[in-house]
Amino acid sequence: MGRLDDKTLIVTGAASGIGRSCAERFLEEGANVVLGDLNEASGNTLAASLGARAAFEALNVTREADWERAVATALARFGHLDGVANVAGIALEGDDIEHCTERTWDRVIGVNLDGVFLGTKHGVAAMKEDRGGSIVNISSVDCLVSDPNGAAIAYTASKGGVRLLSKSAALHCARHGYGIRVNTIHPGYIDTPMMDLFDADAIDDVIRRHPLGRLGKPREIADAALYLQSDESRFVTGSEFVIDGGFTAL
Ligand SMILES: NC(=O)c1ccc[n+]([C@@H]2O[C@H](COP(=O)([O-])OP(=O)(O)OC[C@H]3O[C@@H](n4cnc5c(N)ncnc54)[C@H](O)[C@@H]3O)[C@@H](O)[C@H]2O)c1
Repeated sequence: MGRLDDKTLIVTGAASGIGRSCAERFLEEGANVVLGDLNEASGNTLAASLGARAAFEALNVTREADWERAVATALARFGHLDGVANVAGIALEGDDIEHCTERTWDRVIGVNLDGVFLGTKHGVAAMKEDRGGSIVNISSVDCLVSDPNGAAIAYTASKGGVRLLSKSAALHCARHGYGIRVNTIHPGYIDTPMMDLFDADAIDDVIRRHPLGRLGKPREIADAALYLQSDESRFVTGSEFVIDGGFTAL
């Protein structure tokens, strides 16, 4: 028996890092998974290697039409939708209050916040008349504590937006009795390609700020997402899960 048997989930950012790990973990526990990502080459290869319960969908999370297609694919291929993991996100260089350009701001907010808004909206629309479900939105520790080295302004704003957007959606769904739960995960720094923005010195500095003395692993975030997608978390909504090796306790 898998913890996600008979559930169909959409995972964004599924071609890399935390999204990929979520897709793999959900499949291990019996779910059908629609892997959505901009990166069609990696996404298609990955989905093909994961078997018949995995399907890739080219999905730019900032485009509403792409979301309509992704939901339609989940319903056509697997018959129902039970959850969305909004994982896709970007971090860009030059993202501080003095240097962040309007273009950088728009790109980061577009993917990290608009993308989660659209994923949450279309997840609710598809699940509210059916069996309900669970929406997991990836935020960050960066919106819970400030960074003494200068927090990324658009990134932090986007993740703060995700945190409160998710609580607002959770309360709306609870009030209307939709059986849909919405929660956030706030990872510390995780060893994924996103960390390529940091040089070796910066990574050492970041590691020192995690009391457990290392970067997190994508699977450690996927395990929390698995709990939130499973029925074990049936009484959990509007909550924030901090998975950060002690980063925010310092
Ligand atoms: N790595 C970390 O330290 C860390 C810490 C806290 C939060 N996060 C968050 O976790 C999430 C996943 O990050 P990661 O570290 O796995 O990064 P990653 O760069 O390994 O993966 C991000 C994925 O998102 C996809 N993507 C980017 N823009 C997209 C778009 N418009 N539509 C669809 N897909 C798009 C990319 O193609 C890529 O496959 C992000 O939201 C990130 O902000 C990461």
